[in-house]
Amino acid sequence: MRVLFLCSEYEGLIKTGGLADATRALAMALQQEGVDVRVMLPRYGSLYGKPLAPYWQSVYLSLGGEPMGCAVRQLAGQELPVYLLEHHQLFGRERPYDDGQHGYQDNSRRFSFFCKAALQWCIEQDWTPDLIHGHDWQTGAAACYLKTLYRAALPNCRFVFTVHNGAYQQPLSSQEVQANELSGLHPAVRPSLLAYGLSYTDKLVTVSQGYAAELLEEPAANGLSQIYQQRRQDFSGILNGVDDQIWDPAIDPYLTHHFSAAKLAGKALCKQQLHAQYQLPQADWPLYVAVSRLTSQKGYDYLIPALEQWLISASAYVVMMGTGESRYVEALQRLASRYPEQVRFIHGFDEGLSHLLEAAGDFFLMPSLFEPCGLNQLYSLKYGTLPLVRATGGLKDTVQGLEQPAPTGISFDAPTPDALLQALNQAQQLYAQPKKFQQIRKRAMQQRFDWKTAAAAYLALYQQLRECRTEQGL
Ligand code: ADP
Ligand code: GLC
Repeated sequence: MRVLFLCSEYEGLIKTGGLADATRALAMALQQEGVDVRVMLPRYGSLYGKPLAPYWQSVYLSLGGEPMGCAVRQLAGQELPVYLLEHHQLFGRERPYDDGQHGYQDNSRRFSFFCKAALQWCIEQDWTPDLIHGHDWQTGAAACYLKTLYRAALPNCRFVFTVHNGAYQQPLSSQEVQANELSGLHPAVRPSLLAYGLSYTDKLVTVSQGYAAELLEEPAANGLSQIYQQRRQDFSGILNGVDDQIWDPAIDPYLTHHFSAAKLAGKALCKQQLHAQYQLPQADWPLYVAVSRLTSQKGYDYLIPALEQWLISASAYVVMMGTGESRYVEALQRLASRYPEQVRFIHGFDEGLSHLLEAAGDFFLMPSLFEPCGLNQLYSLKYGTLPLVRATGGLKDTVQGLEQPAPTGISFDAPTPDALLQALNQAQQLYAQPKKFQQIRKRAMQQRFDWKTAAAAYLALYQQLRECRTEQGL
């Protein structure tokens, strides 16, 4: 079976968050299952230095009456074919979606073009996919084009759309709808690239069952609950996994000291290393870590006030890393200068440090307002850093709180500083009982969330679509 992944991020090439982890790991896991998966993403400015294979295909099309062209190139040295769609003016910018402050004004145009050019490419060379798998709003237009403009040219090709985050929709003005040749959306629905993906795809998936249930209701669906409900028959949740090649404390190349549930000594050495690196002298204090995009999704609006209050009396260290909205950057910098003995904030995006933080921590802070799946809590479980989470979406599906029969972390419900303070105090109490803490840590490390299971579930969906094609006599 030939499957083309359309995506805007891919681990090792371009990443702003978990979307990148998920697209690469899933593509690889599907390849392991025997699927001929190929991946296409835009050639961003940051990818211009990457070595290329000799492959080259030019693609010409028009979008909204404007004649346009692009080149499709293939990266050298990838485990599976990765194609880069090159249009210098639209994609040659360093960052994928924004200039560091504001989203690019022409994002709808950029990603509509990416989608239409990708479909045009499908009919211009001899590898025609049986199925296109789009990820998030950046690829929503492709579902629509496949069922409208390309229906005759690609009659056998099916579409699967995965929503990694339903809060990002890329709303469209009526002018943009027209200029990008998008049409035929339910009149009650506010047009967006995400809404086109949801409406036109054959199968709709999101990244946990918990989040799938939440998307059927407002406010979680951000105004699109009607479409999720309409698509109920074709809509399911498939949980992401952990890529063992990248996230395994026993072999992690970013770590100097390795460890496993059976041999935990290396974890203590990682903590020592981090303590030394950030001058945190109290070896026996618990270490709370966080790595995330700095957006309201991650709960910073109540995490920061809760920490402000908690750190007055708590004997604990907090080390956080992130990039994102300047209001959170500033608030975290203020927190770090108010508590110079206890708090470190690293404003940056550093893959190596994210691994060391996962390895060194005792607790991972993830009090998200919503979380479609969440990968950091899965990495934290595997690295024995107990996730402290709000029970929402994928976090609820993957972390068992202390009140559960077999706890693997700490969980709370209300998105308020008070509820979070209680959870932080529970963590402190747990840490003060080393035997119980170690027992829960080991259980956490034994949890398995693998991409093989996810790939098998996606493959079952792909096969269902192929079977209904056969039934229709196609
Ligand atoms: P989301 O996709 O909503 O950002 P996930 O938990 O699914 O959340 O995935 C986040 C991914 O991005 C993880 O691999 C995490 O380690 C990584 N990440 C986020 N912020 C940073 C950062 N500042 N530096 C390095 N990695 C980061
Ligand atoms: C999104 C979500 C996150 C999920 C990731 C990968 O960015 O915010 O919860 O884990 O995509 O699917």
